[in-house]
Amino acid sequence: MKVLGIETSCDDTSVALYDGDGGVVENLVSSQADLHGVFGGVVPELASRAHLVNLLPLVDLLLRRRELRLRDLDGIAVTAGPGLLGALLVGLSTAKALARAAELPLVGIHHIEGHILANALTAELVLPAVVLVVSGGHSELVYMPEIGRYERLGGTVDDAAGEAFDKSAKLLGLPYPGGPHIDRLAAGGDPTRFELPRPLIHDERLIFSFSGLKTAVRLTVEQLPRPLSDRDVADVCRGVQDAIVDVLARRLAQAARRHHVRAVYLAGGVAANGGLRERVAADAAARGWHFVPPARVYCTDNAAMIAYAGHCHLAAGRRDGLDLDSFARAPLASWR
Ligand code: KG4
Ligand code: ZN
Repeated sequence: MKVLGIETSCDDTSVALYDGDGGVVENLVSSQADLHGVFGGVVPELASRAHLVNLLPLVDLLLRRRELRLRDLDGIAVTAGPGLLGALLVGLSTAKALARAAELPLVGIHHIEGHILANALTAELVLPAVVLVVSGGHSELVYMPEIGRYERLGGTVDDAAGEAFDKSAKLLGLPYPGGPHIDRLAAGGDPTRFELPRPLIHDERLIFSFSGLKTAVRLTVEQLPRPLSDRDVADVCRGVQDAIVDVLARRLAQAARRHHVRAVYLAGGVAANGGLRERVAADAAARGWHFVPPARVYCTDNAAMIAYAGHCHLAAGRRDGLDLDSFARAPLASWR
């Protein structure tokens, strides 16, 4: 079964092809990072317009590269939400028009389910599992007994982990999105110089809070001489990353212990973080949990994860009508 995936929920325009026989055969991503970088964050209207300009040419490119026509496909999967509404509407309208024109089944995918199932593109899933979903818009712990069944165990009470990375990076004068820059610079930073707070670390609940960390980073940076030296920047990056990773990894382990799972997983853009992957790998090895970090290309927003999720839905006989709606926010619901 060949499924075309379309992802336009934020600032990456992506189309992919998942083939039940061959796995991911194409995953094209047109990043808008340069476009939004000058503003220090995503400008929703610019994102929608860039999707409008780039999406159909990307679909055409994918079909040409694979020497396929729309009618050779078996279905279309599109991110229905959560995300920026204008951006989602571009993907949804395009997916509906293509599905209608080629008389293909259409299925709307929850973006978070896409991130979670991206793990299946790297290695076969071991279940039941707890998944830590950490991106620019989400920080959630999800219990997954099987594909299609999800239980939200907790999440952030303020900023998402990716936001905490990006806002800290901005305070250090690093480009947007700052997460990957902090990751790279932290590797050469001194872990003992800046001990930043681990908010709610002793709380029994499975919740995160990152707004206090942002304030602590601001106060730390304000006390440093200007211009900031490379050493100071690297040391603060290390402090920020260690604090965020410590909080995330402890909560993931807490959730995994409570639910007696066989595996733990990471999902979302922050799952690409080297420090987080190392720490979770060490925790999992110590506890006997299965853990394989997802391939980095499938951590940040991509349509391969949406195409694969669509494949799962369609294989289970689930599909949506042409009245499929978008949503800016909604919890991940089970469909099985
Ligand atoms: O999943 P994603 O591409 O988009 C959303 O759904 O939000 O996640 C983007 C987020 C950004 O905040 C970015 O800074 C962060 O993921 N990110 C990272 C790394 N790569 C991306 N954060 C820390 N370390 C990284 N290596
Ligand atoms: Zn995402």
